[in-house]
Amino acid sequence: MLERLNEIEKAVRVALQRASSQQDLDNIRAEFLGRKGALTSMMRSIRDVPPEQRPQFGNASNRLKNDLEEAFKKRLVEIQNTSTAKEGKTSNRQVETPEDITLPGRKGFVGHRHVLMSLLDEIVDVFHGMGFSTALGPDIESAYYNFDALNTQPNHPSRNIADTFYVKGHKPDDGNPYLLRTQTSPVQIRTMLSQEPPIRIISPGRCYRKDAIDATHYISFWQIEGLYVDNNVTMADLKGVLTAFATKILGPKTKIRFRPHFFPFTEPSVEYDFSCTCNGKGCRLCKGTGWIEISGAGMVDPEVFHAVGYDPERWQGYAFGMGVERIALIRHGIDDIRLLYQNDLRLLKQF
Ligand code: DAH
Repeated sequence: MLERLNEIEKAVRVALQRASSQQDLDNIRAEFLGRKGALTSMMRSIRDVPPEQRPQFGNASNRLKNDLEEAFKKRLVEIQNTSTAKEGKTSNRQVETPEDITLPGRKGFVGHRHVLMSLLDEIVDVFHGMGFSTALGPDIESAYYNFDALNTQPNHPSRNIADTFYVKGHKPDDGNPYLLRTQTSPVQIRTMLSQEPPIRIISPGRCYRKDAIDATHYISFWQIEGLYVDNNVTMADLKGVLTAFATKILGPKTKIRFRPHFFPFTEPSVEYDFSCTCNGKGCRLCKGTGWIEISGAGMVDPEVFHAVGYDPERWQGYAFGMGVERIALIRHGIDDIRLLYQNDLRLLKQF
């Protein structure tokens, strides 16, 4: 019997030496000291031991059990120490390899204003430099300001639901429908209703139209409106201001031309073009014509002055609108308006 106890002790000590994890220790404990373990079964068989040897067997097996418990504890500490030592070694290795301070630093990515927004700031600055101040209006506008007060007849095609985004609801005081403004021209009306001449304002803002999206059209775009009302204002003043603007933004060689057109709120009306940066050689952007259409302009129609209560015999004015995306395309030689809205980092980083 005592011999058998010795065998168990040896087996446990060998197994403990091989163990390398808490899990190993648990397995060994179950095998020898657990409810069905070898030592436990031995201790239970004390009944089979002759009565005179029982005290000796009992003492020996109890001592062995205690000794083995101690051995388990010791081994557990050893295993824990080796695993922390291993981790320590890995971090030591990092410390042993110092940073190479001669390597070039890693550059962080710094964002900047979108090409369209920085152009907008620049355009506004140029007009401020010519004595214009900024007036703003809402994106959700009443049809009265967007169309009626601008002398746009009730059957004008631009009012069509196929062209304009109407918003649910009507203006409570006059029953006019709300819409997403199709142009910045309503800010002319808002400004003239709230101020007396002379007036010299620009109005940057987003506009919305149900246009089919293609290389030159988008459902939402930026416009800058201009309005000058004073005594003795002529088309020559209009052309002078637009020419000064074009040369500031696109370079001293830029030319401007007027083509006769129609707008309900100006008479006479023109569309105006800037010469293309290809200098008339003809490129994809100007489709070989050397000119790029910017927008419309003209002398404020007397009907508009009537709508805001100004005397058209006393005051004259010019007005213009311009598409900001168009100018961005010419300036940067981009041939598709959609590129300005896709947030492709390759384009954004370029400008
Ligand atoms: N609002 C016009 C448009 O979006 C552009 C325009 C034309 C504005 C003539 C004006 C103007 O102020 O006088 O097509």
